[in-house]
Amino acid sequence: MSVTPPAPSRAAEILSRPVSINGLTVPNRIAMAPMTRMFSPDGIPGEDVVSYYARRAAAGVGLIVTEGTYVGHDSAGQSDRVPRFHGEEQLAGWAKVAEAVHAGGGTIVPQLWHIGMVRNQGEPPFADAPAVGPSGVRLDGTEGVGKAMTQRDLDDVIGAFAQAAAAAERIGFDGVELHGAHGYLLDQFLWSGTNRRTDAYGGDPVARAKFAAEIIAAVRETVSAEFPIIFRYSQWKQEAYDVRLAETPEELEAILAPLAAAGVDAFHASTRRYWLPEFDGSDLNLAGWTKKLTGKPTITVGSVGLDGDFIGGFAGEGSQVKGIDDLLDRLERDEFDMVAVGRALLQDPEWAAKVLGGRLDELAPYDAAALKTLS
Ligand SMILES: Cc1cc2nc3c(=O)[nH]c(=O)nc-3n(C[C@H](O)[C@H](O)[C@H](O)COP(=O)(O)O)c2cc1C
Repeated sequence: MSVTPPAPSRAAEILSRPVSINGLTVPNRIAMAPMTRMFSPDGIPGEDVVSYYARRAAAGVGLIVTEGTYVGHDSAGQSDRVPRFHGEEQLAGWAKVAEAVHAGGGTIVPQLWHIGMVRNQGEPPFADAPAVGPSGVRLDGTEGVGKAMTQRDLDDVIGAFAQAAAAAERIGFDGVELHGAHGYLLDQFLWSGTNRRTDAYGGDPVARAKFAAEIIAAVRETVSAEFPIIFRYSQWKQEAYDVRLAETPEELEAILAPLAAAGVDAFHASTRRYWLPEFDGSDLNLAGWTKKLTGKPTITVGSVGLDGDFIGGFAGEGSQVKGIDDLLDRLERDEFDMVAVGRALLQDPEWAAKVLGGRLDELAPYDAAALKTLS
C-alpha cells in the first residue's frame, strides 16, 4: 500500500528554494547570523568550533556567516579568543570549518572584521596597537583616545581586507562578508557621528562611503569574479542603538550606490526587529529598501522566530518563540531574499531542520545561558 507523503509546510515551501549570490548557489533561504563566541584561544578555531558550525549546516542552514574574525592588522581587534583570519594555524583551523560545513551540505563565508575605535589600547592580541578610526573619535563622541587614520593606515587596512578575502577563497570558503555594521571601523567611516574628516573620506554620504568602497574594490580585484562579496551594514551602532546612518531613502541610496558599484554582490541589512518599517510611508524593512534601491539580493535579520531583541539577550534575558508567518509573506513578495537567524540558532542547532520540516511546534524559547557554551 502506498502512503501519500505529507504536504510540505508553507515554511518549507518558501524557505527551501535555492538562491544565487553571484557565482554561489545557496541551497535555501536560511542563513546563520554572524555571532562572536570567543571560543578560539590564540585566535585559532579548534575542533569545537568546527563541530559547532558543522552541526548547524548538517541541520539545514543554507549559508553560514561566521562570527566576526579579525583581518590582519594589529589594531583590528581586542581579544585573543576571537578567531583571526590571518596566520597559518588560524587559517588551518578555518579550512577545517569550511570543509565540515560543506560536508554537511551548507555554504559558508567568514565575516571579516576590524573594530576601529571600539578598541581599548592595551588589550590583546597586539597590546601596543592603538585604536584607529576616521577621526580618533569614539562612538560616544570621546576625542583624543585613538588615532585618526593616515593614508598609510587606510592603505594597510584595505590591504588586510583584500588579503583575508584572498585567503578565504584559497582555503575553500564560498565568499566573504565584510563587517560594515554596528559602529565598527567601516561603519565609523559611514556615520557622520564618528567621521569628522575634511579630506576625500569625510563629508557627504558618498565621501563617507569611500573607504568601504575602496575595500570592496580591492577585495573584488583580489578574488575571482564569481566569488561573492556580501556587505553587512546597519543603521544602529553599539552604544547608540537609536542613531541612524540615513534618515531618508535618498540618503540611504547615496551610501549604498557606491558600495554596490564597487562590487558588492549582496547586502545584509542588520536590524533588531525585521518587522519594523524603515521609513515612513512604506512597510518595507531595511533589507526591503536595500533591495529596492540597489537591485542586489539582500538578507534580513532581527528577532526571527523570537519576540524580544538581542540586546535583552546580552543582558541575560530570554525570549519567547514568535511565529514567522509575516516573515514568509515578505519573502513570498520578494521584499528580500534570505533570512539570517541569530539567537534562535544559538539556542537550537536543529532550528533550520525543524522549520524546514514543518515542526514549528518543536521550537524552543531562547535562554541566554546558550551564550556560555558552544553546543
Ligand atoms: C552573541 C552574539 C554575538 C554577535 N556577534 C556579532 C558579530 O560578530 N558580527 C555581527 O555582525 N553581528 C553580531 N551579532 C548580531 C547578530 O548577527 C544578529 O544581527 C542579532 O543577534 C539579531 O539577530 P537575532 O535577533 O536573530 O539574534 C551578535 C549577536 C549575538 C547574540
